[in-house]
Amino acid sequence: MSTIEITNSLEKDKSVNQDQTQFTSDTERKQQSTSFVSQFETNASEKKEQNSTVKISAEDVHVYYGDAEAIKGIDLKVYENEVIAFIGPSGCGKSTFLRTLNRMNDTIDSCRVTGKVTLDNQDIYDPNLDVVLLRAQVGMVFQKPNPFPKSIFDNVAYGPKLHGLARDKYDLEEIVENSLRKAGLWDEVKDRLNQPGTGLSGGQQQRLCIARTIAVSPEVILMDEPCSALDPIATAKVEELISELSTQYTIAIVTHSMQQAARVSDRTAYFHLGDLIEVNSTEKVFTQPDHQLTEAYITGRFG
Ligand SMILES: Nc1ncnc2c1ncn2[C@@H]1O[C@H](COP(=O)(O)OP(=O)(O)O)[C@@H](O)[C@H]1O
Ligand SMILES: [Mg+2]
Repeated sequence: MSTIEITNSLEKDKSVNQDQTQFTSDTERKQQSTSFVSQFETNASEKKEQNSTVKISAEDVHVYYGDAEAIKGIDLKVYENEVIAFIGPSGCGKSTFLRTLNRMNDTIDSCRVTGKVTLDNQDIYDPNLDVVLLRAQVGMVFQKPNPFPKSIFDNVAYGPKLHGLARDKYDLEEIVENSLRKAGLWDEVKDRLNQPGTGLSGGQQQRLCIARTIAVSPEVILMDEPCSALDPIATAKVEELISELSTQYTIAIVTHSMQQAARVSDRTAYFHLGDLIEVNSTEKVFTQPDHQLTEAYITGRFG
């Protein structure tokens, strides 16, 4: 399907009602469900109960780069302590939307955001808001591990120092140790805290970046394809970590890997050409998606 055809079918789908979007018979659906399930093992059975407290709310969010509209009016609520995965083809606005949640788009000159985003019911685009503080509350982990050219210790201590979170040297050491422990890295680095962070393996560097994010006591952690530069073993460790962290933090993760979304997330949001097509429990998205475009994507018809 060409991009134009996809756009047209998207426009068409939006104008029809829910019943008309039925695209398979129930029997076909059941058969497909079984095959999707085996393809994407979801961990729904072990999942915690859905928390109903809204942590982040996005209302009618549009994002423009110059004249190009990259996000075309998205509404989404992210609940406390959930892991929500953002999936969809490349260039559909997943990273752009993720960045609206902690105003990282402010750093891109041509970028303009409209609509409303709240964190704990507070407007994060309020001009009086302290953006540095916001980015501590809503931390971000990037695709490529990006430790500072500093020691392992200083990578983690940097944020707490900046925000004055430690009373003294001992307090700071405790924050660093706890953060490294939570990131599952302490045992691997405790004897070489003064060595450069950049000397660690890729997977360790990514966990160091996660420790750095945790060190400033965030409430939400945004992850933009955090495993795409990692090997399968390092990926498995980070995925395990995401599950552990979700008991304490709210996590939104962009991933190209549908298997990863199925493994780590409670809900999955499917993005398509700047629109949010569907958001549902991960199990539903991968077994009985509501929308034809979601199904086409997860069955690999385009992507
Ligand atoms: N810094 C930027 N400047 C201009 N256009 C951008 C920038 N970042 C992303 N875009 C455009 O916005 C759209 C969405 O991109 P992106 O959010 O990176 O998608 P995804 O993360 O889903 O691959 C694409 O058309 C992309 O080219
Ligand atoms: Mg991206």
